[in-house]
Formats: sequence, C-alpha cells, structure tokens
Amino acid sequence: MKLLIVGSGGREHTLAWKIAQSDKVTKIYALPGNAGMSAITERVNMSVMDINGIADFAEREKIDLTVIGPESPLIVGLTDELEKRGLKVFGPGKDAAQMEGSKIFAKRLMLDNRVPTAGFEEFDDAAKACDFIESIASKSGDPIVVKADGEAAGKGVFICKTKKAALDAIDTIMNQKAFGESGNRVVIEEFLDGQEASFMCFVDGEKFVPMIPAQDYKRACDNDEGPNTGGMGCYSPVPVVTAEVSKFVIDFIVKPTLKALKNMGIYYKGVLYVGLALTSRGPKVVEFNARFGDHETQVVLPLLKTDLVDILLACAEGRLDTIDVNWYNRSAVCVVMASGGYPGDYEKGKVITGLDEAEKAGAMVFHAGTATKDGECVTAGGRVLGVTAVGNTYQECIDKAYAGVRLIHFDGAHYRNDIGARLL
Ligand code: AMP
Ligand code: GLY
Repeated sequence: MKLLIVGSGGREHTLAWKIAQSDKVTKIYALPGNAGMSAITERVNMSVMDINGIADFAEREKIDLTVIGPESPLIVGLTDELEKRGLKVFGPGKDAAQMEGSKIFAKRLMLDNRVPTAGFEEFDDAAKACDFIESIASKSGDPIVVKADGEAAGKGVFICKTKKAALDAIDTIMNQKAFGESGNRVVIEEFLDGQEASFMCFVDGEKFVPMIPAQDYKRACDNDEGPNTGGMGCYSPVPVVTAEVSKFVIDFIVKPTLKALKNMGIYYKGVLYVGLALTSRGPKVVEFNARFGDHETQVVLPLLKTDLVDILLACAEGRLDTIDVNWYNRSAVCVVMASGGYPGDYEKGKVITGLDEAEKAGAMVFHAGTATKDGECVTAGGRVLGVTAVGNTYQECIDKAYAGVRLIHFDGAHYRNDIGARLL
C-alpha cells in the first residue's frame, strides 16, 4: 500500500514512524513532512492547504490511504475533495470537522444532547458580549473564559482573571479581528477547574475505539509557570483517568456526541479528540479536536500493539468492528525541546547535534520544527523535538527521555525539567 501523510509536526513524524512498521506498506509520502521524516518517507513540497494540489497528487500517485494530521485542511474540506475523487481518507469531512472548527457548533451540540461541558453564552455582537461580561463579572471569583468561535491556531482562548481582561479579549477577538473571521462570534464560558486529560478515539463513521488517555503540560516552564504553549511534555497512561472515568466519558460524552452527529446526518470518521477537565463535579468537555493531538500522539502510538494501518484503513472503510485494537501494558513520556523564546519570538536555523546518540541511549526522537540545511539538521519551529521513551514504569520513561534530552544540543534549547514528576 502507498500512504500519504499530510502535515509536518511531531504528530506526523510519529504517524510515519508507526505506519512504517506495517508490513502492508510499500511507500509513505509526507506532505510536506519535516527533516526527521526524510529517512522513512518521500517528502512532497506542497502546502497542506493546497486542497486540489493534494488531491491531484493522491490521484496521480494512486495513494491507497491519505492520513490527515492537522485541523486546518480538515476544516476546509480536504477529506471531502479526496473522497469525491474516490480516494480513501483517514480524517473527518468538513461537516464533522466543525467539532473543532466552530466552538459554537460543538457547544450547541453538547447543550442539546446533555453532554457535560462548561455553561456558555454565544455572541455575534461585541457590545452585547461586553454587557454580559459586566453582568457576570462580580458574581463569582472565577476567571471568565472567552473564546473566538473559529480556528485560531490554538491562540483564540483567553482565561481572564479580571473583568478588564475579559473586555480586552472581546476587543482583541471581535473588534481588532486578531483571528480574522474566526472572531465574528465568541463564546463566553464558565471556568472549569481540575486536571485536564486528552481522551482520543478512533472513529469509523459510527463505531469507535478509545485510545489510551494522555495528559500534557501546556505551560512553558517548570511548575506550570510561564505562558501557554502547544505543549511542553506529555505522558500516557493517566492515573487520574481511571476505568470509571473512562466509562463515564464513553457513556456520557463519546456515545451521545457521535449519536447527535449521526442524527444530523454527519458520519464522523478519524480521531475524535475529547479534551477533558476532571472537575469536582465530574468530567466535562473543554474542547473537541478533529484529529490526533500533538503531542499526545507521541506517547499514545508507541503504546499501540495493533498495526496502525489496519486501524486507519478500517476507519476509512467503516469497519472498525473487524479490528481488535490492542495496547502494550507499558507507559510513555515525551519531553519537548523548544527553541529559546518559544512561545514568543525565537530564532531558527540552529544546528541540532546528538540525535543519534539520544536514540542509541534508548529514546525515540520525534521531529517537529526541523529542517535540513547544508546536510545538517537545524531548528525550524517553536517546538523542535519530542524526545519520547517507553518503559515499564513512569520512572524508567522519565529517566530514558531525559537521558536523551541531555545528549541533544542546539543553541537556546529550552525544555521543562518536571515532565512526569507528578506521577512519582
Ligand atoms: P480550547 O482551545 O477550547 O481547548 O482551550 C485551550 C485551553 O484553554 C484548554 O486546554 C484549557 O487549558 C483552557 N480552557 C479552555 N476552556 C476552559 C474553561 N472553560 N475553563 C478552564 N480552562 C479552559
Ligand atoms: N496537544 C493539544 C492539541 O493537540 O490540541
């Protein structure tokens, strides 16, 4: 089989690594991929948003399955275009991807179907949104959560500790249009306390199989200090997501959500990512994503025993019930190495050394923002590498991942020292 992976992050490198282990696969293309993917894929220099270009390529190369990593091409309908041409795809169509592409779509679906989530109001008028903030600001001491409705590259969520911050957020989103059209509408919602966890499921249009949960670290610095990032580290499984919590999530979140979509004539196919808050009043949905998490994938897929290609294809063909999905009874930890300055401004093009040494020491190095320049691997993004280790205990994973991290060098490299520490 010939597979095409769309995307260029750590998630896509991990997908390529896992897919390459399948004996059914003869060739993997990465569009556009990153430096770490060059050894196991043939890279295609094209934008992930070039929907017709990608479909032309997949048609011409007779790709047996296209696996779409990031949300943006899903939201604009890459799956629909490929399927229109009779090609198989792993990833939801445009309608289903609204679960991530529109906060209001997802919130209304949850409200109408009693799926537990933060209480909310939606607004398409900045003045009315501000009036609402004025009316609730003094009622509880909790932060006010303001979200742009549409896609905002993970930056459209504001957790506002003061009324002024909330009013400023409305101004940024709705008046200054910091996220373009995505800010035409906003959601103002209740603050959810408690630990977060990522609960991803493989979905085939109707049936689903949960993956092992993961938990990530969003803040840039140790002890959860510093600004929010795309994620600085991750582990799986998650002790606080007990069997009981998982059952609750399946029965009261995943099942009613997929049923509600089906009732709307939407057959969700791909990964349904449930971002959970484990609040004192039970698990609630913080967000849905329409794709594998980056970097949850870097810890979850190494624990998957079953051939990933069998699962992806079964999802694309609507026969997930024909596959037995099995997992290793082990743990995984991923430590992200980022460019100095991330998530703010940072320099690119720093030479990376020690990658082979880290692999020899037992870590798996998944590339994110890397490129090849004059034969050397250089930094090319904020999150540069996800250094991952699998082991029988969390301690073993942490030791192996950090041993790898210490062998890798690039100018200004930044990483957290406490990934997984709360597990010990
Ligand atoms: P979202 O894009 O909706 O997932 O939001 C990004 C991040 O903001 C989440 O992972 C949470 O850490 C935080 N967040 C979003 N909504 C809430 C909420 N209602 N209460 C507390 N934190 C939230
Ligand atoms: N790790 C969070 C996400 O993929 O959205």
